[in-house]
Amino acid sequence: MPHLFIKNPSPICYPSKVDDVEFLFGVDDLIAVSVDGCKFFLSIQKRDDKYLLKYDKITRPLSSYLKRAYLAFVKLSQAQVLSSNIDGIKDKQPHKYLITIDDNLAYKDMIVEIGFGSGRHLLYQARKNPHKMVLGIEIHKPSIEQVLKRCELEGITNIRIIDYDGRLVLSKLPSNAVSNIYVHFPVPWDKKPHRRVISKYFINESIRVLQKDGILHLRTDSDNYFEYAFWEFMHLQKPHLQVYKNKDLEISSKYEDRWKKLNKNIYDIYMINDEISADIDNHFDFSLGCLDVDKITQDAYIFDEFLIHFEKVYKINDDYSLVRLTMGDFHRPEHLYIVAGPNSYYYKEPLKHALNQKTHNKLKEIMQCQK
Ligand SMILES: C[S@@+](CC[C@H](N)C(=O)[O-])C[C@H]1O[C@@H](n2cnc3c(N)ncnc32)[C@H](O)[C@@H]1O
Repeated sequence: MPHLFIKNPSPICYPSKVDDVEFLFGVDDLIAVSVDGCKFFLSIQKRDDKYLLKYDKITRPLSSYLKRAYLAFVKLSQAQVLSSNIDGIKDKQPHKYLITIDDNLAYKDMIVEIGFGSGRHLLYQARKNPHKMVLGIEIHKPSIEQVLKRCELEGITNIRIIDYDGRLVLSKLPSNAVSNIYVHFPVPWDKKPHRRVISKYFINESIRVLQKDGILHLRTDSDNYFEYAFWEFMHLQKPHLQVYKNKDLEISSKYEDRWKKLNKNIYDIYMINDEISADIDNHFDFSLGCLDVDKITQDAYIFDEFLIHFEKVYKINDDYSLVRLTMGDFHRPEHLYIVAGPNSYYYKEPLKHALNQKTHNKLKEIMQCQK
């Protein structure tokens, strides 16, 4: 976790600019900064006679942006640096194949793999299908780095990687565009089943994004996960499934090799999609207008399909407040910030999809200023 210990920082004035880092406002331990248009928070916390300068988890940016913000803060506040672990962070641009969830993901013929780990299977699919775009979704940064390095070494050009929660990414993909979705050895989350990648929502989104005859393939070594997922698939009106036990595939991941040595059972569920789905409406409006924090009368607002949980309100000045909240689907709510006042805006934007649009509309209703 990149951080600094500093001593004697002077209070800073807002707004201020140091090199290309803008300091927008400060509340509590949070310092709002913008680097190349990317907004995030630094956090400064007192520890005995020194301060810990670190990042805010919800808005964590690229490490290179973080390093620039840390150094700019030290310069602006004329603080003394006691120790830091940021020297090794290179000031480099993100890899060209590392894309973001907000990029245009409208590829015509795609393969998607969620939680690709070492990337053996992802790279195999890319080599085998040079005319398809292979989209890998992973949250473990070292795995992402490793796969991007292999793409360079092997000259693979048809892989794109997104560092994001795989449960949410399908909602950003066009309908009928994906031939295969792979979920191989997902984390079983036996104690927190709501965090599992496979869910009714995920299955329905898979059906929407899969081409007709496209396949969602779950491979797992967990008896519990297999059983759970099987019944999630069986909730479909007319599930078209193939189920196998201990079937060898043409490629085996490092993770799988380990289980095979232990003689563990491995299960496969293939869901074949028989439907052609309607296109999704991509015309969303996430503008906020005038919001009043005094309109929030309870912590949590629960609706049929989604929730809005107001976690904390910080006063920025007489006109504006910062609101930290979670909103959206019960199992996968997003952690966000809103700057609320006459011209409100999301400090961290929600993912733009239909359920979040509904949640956003309710949020506006709850917090709307008196006309
Ligand atoms: C047990 S490993 C399996 C890796 C690989 N599929 C294999 O077969 O070797 C699970 C992987 O899923 C990733 N992961 C867990 N939750 C995820 C999520 N919500 N979205 C994307 N990746 C996730 C983890 O970082 C990890 O790399």
